[in-house]
Amino acid sequence: MITGIDHVGIAVRSLDERVPFYRDVLAMGEPELEEVPEQKVRVAMFRTGAGRIELLEPTDPESPIAKFIEKNGEGIHHLALGTGEITAGIAAVETAGLRMIDSTPRDGAEGAQIAFVHPKSTGGVLLEFCRR
Ligand code: CO
Repeated sequence: MITGIDHVGIAVRSLDERVPFYRDVLAMGEPELEEVPEQKVRVAMFRTGAGRIELLEPTDPESPIAKFIEKNGEGIHHLALGTGEITAGIAAVETAGLRMIDSTPRDGAEGAQIAFVHPKSTGGVLLEFCRR
């Protein structure tokens, strides 16, 4: 069911401020930039060769990313696992009596289908299932 680590999501106040570290200091190339209005974020996606790094900048104070930064500061926000069949992942979690944030898949960056598992069910990790 799990095909690998798809990406690590990192909450940032400003893409303009944080992109240069990955692009210039780490020489990871130009990121794919995308706005995801459903999640009220702008995304910069870097390819590392194996797994991606997803920088998330809130576009609205009501964005979940804005609330995360307000509470925790900038930093690692979620871990995304690649899945072949996202509904199978959701079913496995719910069958185990654990809690999904998204019980149906929704649209993520780069046309992916995503669903989040509640961190209370994972020992504090906000886990994303991601199907491309
Ligand atoms: Co993500």
